[in-house]
Amino acid sequence: MKTYIVGNWKLNFTVGEASIYLHKLMKALPNYRDIEVVVAPSTIALQPLSLQVDRHKIRLAAQNAFYRDFGAFTGETSFLQLSGVVNYALVGHSEQRYIFGEDDKMIAKKTAAAVRNRIQPILCIGETESERAFNETADVIRDQLLGGLSEISDDDLDKVLIAYEPVWAISSTKVAKLATPDEVAEVVKLIRKTLTEAYGKKAAENVPVLFGGSVNPSNAGGYLTVPGVNGLLVGGSSLILSEFVDIIEVAKRVQS
Ligand code: 13P
Repeated sequence: MKTYIVGNWKLNFTVGEASIYLHKLMKALPNYRDIEVVVAPSTIALQPLSLQVDRHKIRLAAQNAFYRDFGAFTGETSFLQLSGVVNYALVGHSEQRYIFGEDDKMIAKKTAAAVRNRIQPILCIGETESERAFNETADVIRDQLLGGLSEISDDDLDKVLIAYEPVWAISSTKVAKLATPDEVAEVVKLIRKTLTEAYGKKAAENVPVLFGGSVNPSNAGGYLTVPGVNGLLVGGSSLILSEFVDIIEVAKRVQS
């Protein structure tokens, strides 16, 4: 399986800044065939960047979109509108869950809408600090995982990626702590077990599972060697070009 290195730029960069960053990133990267480098800029930058990007090197992801294709949904952009513009879309990011109140029902509709429009959803799941403290991690992970996948058919599971992002490890949260590779391993094992029970061993094995939460060039190698982890979802560190390139190079070294 490929290794996925996904940069989530969140609400950062103007369109001009995003374009300059992309230009530099394309220059800095060789064509790594077994590493899928993906960046997720703001929605407004996606269309111009889609004309600029060399898809042999880098793919684009949306950070979010709405599940209905058209209609009276002021302020939204649909997966249909993004089809042909992006290859991937984050779905259910914790910032959407906890700042904007997205629930598993809505996330399930978004996962299905992405697949329907030939965009690969990256379904983000993860427990909060208090859920972990109350030993609820396993239940939360199971609910978010099966809830988020509940509207896609079994045949479409191979189009989905999962990102495990413990909310307490995300750099923007006040309490942010680094997750240890052992903590990540335990939850990734649970994700694979849950997928195996629901979809069978073979289907479950083929789903890429990424880790995210304060990933940087010095801890990337530790997370990438966790069994069952196929890539990284990087926030803050992906905004600094040299760090993002370093993370991609770590991924290359871990692979070989
Ligand atoms: P940080 O890498 O800044 O912790 O962000 C993680 C994240 O939310 C990526 O989606």
